[in-house]
Amino acid sequence: MPANEALSVADALHRRRSVRAFSDRPVDRAVLARIFADAQRAPSGGNLQPWQVTVVTGARWERVKAAVAARIAMGRDGQQPEYDIYPRGLTDPWESRRFGVGEALYASLGIPREDKPGRLARFMENYRGFGAPVMLFLHCSRIMGPPQWADMGMWLQSVMLLLVEHGLASCPQECWAMYGATIRHELELGDDQILFTGLAIGHADAAAPVNQWPVPRAELDEVIDWQGF
Ligand SMILES: Cc1cc2nc3c(=O)[nH]c(=O)nc-3n(C[C@H](O)[C@H](O)[C@H](O)COP(=O)(O)O)c2cc1C
Repeated sequence: MPANEALSVADALHRRRSVRAFSDRPVDRAVLARIFADAQRAPSGGNLQPWQVTVVTGARWERVKAAVAARIAMGRDGQQPEYDIYPRGLTDPWESRRFGVGEALYASLGIPREDKPGRLARFMENYRGFGAPVMLFLHCSRIMGPPQWADMGMWLQSVMLLLVEHGLASCPQECWAMYGATIRHELELGDDQILFTGLAIGHADAAAPVNQWPVPRAELDEVIDWQGF
């Protein structure tokens, strides 16, 4: 999309998707600065603005990837989860939605369920940020609770929509929280910080099939209970 095309909020919502293949075209820091300035308008309970953000590119980003790769090479012992990414014992309807989107993603890549190594190798692309030239790490003070984490989500969505407006693409990536301590160390964050998620940022590889499949959503009846209308 051309960077300066006028978009409605609904257009931006529909155009945003999690992009899992990027070109290596760099991203202009001034554009990101403008996006972050606009995203500061995101609401937060008590106006706490709990989001704290570290953005890396170039050699710094390479160093983070290398440090995490070293932990990955240690297998399960190398993992340092910041939090449970999903609730333990996830039940339906949520488990079916999680399973369904994974199946659709791998189908777009032509990787069948039996091909466990193929699926794992593809999952590991997460830890390259899918080739994105910029990685944003979103963290906050450990004293913050669920309301402030929800505030971080609103900031994150604001950024993702603004990226669309500027012709850029993104993929939120909580998978980085599996290696939280390493990332905090590499980014020189204090231990008082907790890492929520990464956000891969760059220009989408528009031709990649992984960026083209329709991502399902629940029907409105499943999520909205109209009362008194
Ligand atoms: C906080 C957050 C973390 C996510 N983490 C990952 C991740 O680690 N890897 C990944 O491939 N997708 C990740 N996703 C993307 C979701 O799978 C995606 O948002 C969902 O399937 C809906 O698809 P869409 O974003 O393309 O509309 C994450 C999304 C959010 C909001």
